[in-house]
Amino acid sequence: MVIAIMTSRIIGTGSFVPETVVTNDDLSKIMDTSDEWIAGRTGIRERRLVKEETTASMSAEAARRAMQNAGVTAEEIDLIIVGTITGDYVTPSTACEVQAAIGADKAVVFDINAACSGFVFALITAHAYLNAGIYKTALVLGAETLSKIMDWNDRSTCVLFGDGAGAAVVRADETGIMSFDQGADGSKGMVLACRNRVNNNPFVKNDIVHDYVSMDGQEVYKFAVSTVPKSIQKVLDEANLTTEDISYFVLHQANIRIIQSVAKRLKVSEDKFPISLDHLGNISAGSVPILLDEMNQKGMLQKGDKIVLSGFGAGLTWGSVLVEW
Ligand code: ACO
Repeated sequence: MVIAIMTSRIIGTGSFVPETVVTNDDLSKIMDTSDEWIAGRTGIRERRLVKEETTASMSAEAARRAMQNAGVTAEEIDLIIVGTITGDYVTPSTACEVQAAIGADKAVVFDINAACSGFVFALITAHAYLNAGIYKTALVLGAETLSKIMDWNDRSTCVLFGDGAGAAVVRADETGIMSFDQGADGSKGMVLACRNRVNNNPFVKNDIVHDYVSMDGQEVYKFAVSTVPKSIQKVLDEANLTTEDISYFVLHQANIRIIQSVAKRLKVSEDKFPISLDHLGNISAGSVPILLDEMNQKGMLQKGDKIVLSGFGAGLTWGSVLVEW
């Protein structure tokens, strides 16, 4: 019997977050902030921060858990894509480190830099390979150690973020990803930015600056609440579905007020928007796959359920994927 392969399916998930819990009250002991301010404006109550863990070590553990959940071995992995902006090295990529750690020797591997859309972009890229029949099984990750690019003297940004990694095993199949949308607006890049190393060769005179994340929070908010509902509507329209057909909207966990506004604009109950930002903060590319794994572990996802994954953030970038579980 010839099986027509037309799409790709998420067949397993896994995640790893660091052991160290840092509450809003912990932060208020080292900077001028409060649980009231942070929780009231963002919904975040605590986050995990690395001590010994690295982007690669968290990714490798999330990958092992996803492979176990999917029932696949490292030898079966053809492709590893990691969405991250906080790899441990400029090179090798986090994906190379993961490949070595899990022993997926034959896999083609690379990272994608799309900030908080990183996992969704990686998933769409893997889907394109699988859908084209080039590879059969992919490991897709979103992982960040954001605490190392935060200015810990800037209370307006450092309280928002956390560290962690999430992974999904994706396999070519007849059902699964139903539609996707992605986009970017590079002209607004400086709204949420973190500069890399500056030119410091012997022929220029530059002070060495170690730059950290800077953000215009209100601009990010406006971008998110206007772009995300449109992106979600696009994937629904393409699949001829409505919001009522969707069990859950798994959004990037930036801020509870963004999620509430997206729910309102789509006229969907907030109950369909699961939350992890209260206990994990914003983990950029890690947010969506970690939340997806939490839902999977809790048994919230039944075969045939339709869910929308949506990432948005620096770049600016955004992307949504409609998935049949
Ligand atoms: N604790 C106490 N006070 C603070 C803190 C803090 N951690 N941070 C800032 N403040 C103060 C400011 O100094 C300012 O004080 P002032 O009025 O005396 O000058 C006041 O709070 C208001 O500051 P704003 O920056 O104007 O705060 P705003 O109301 O915009 O809230 C927030 C900031 C929560 C980030 C908001 O802009 C927002 O929701 N943005 C959405 C974007 C977002 O969530 N980004 C996260 C990462 S991006 C992404 O993942 C896509």
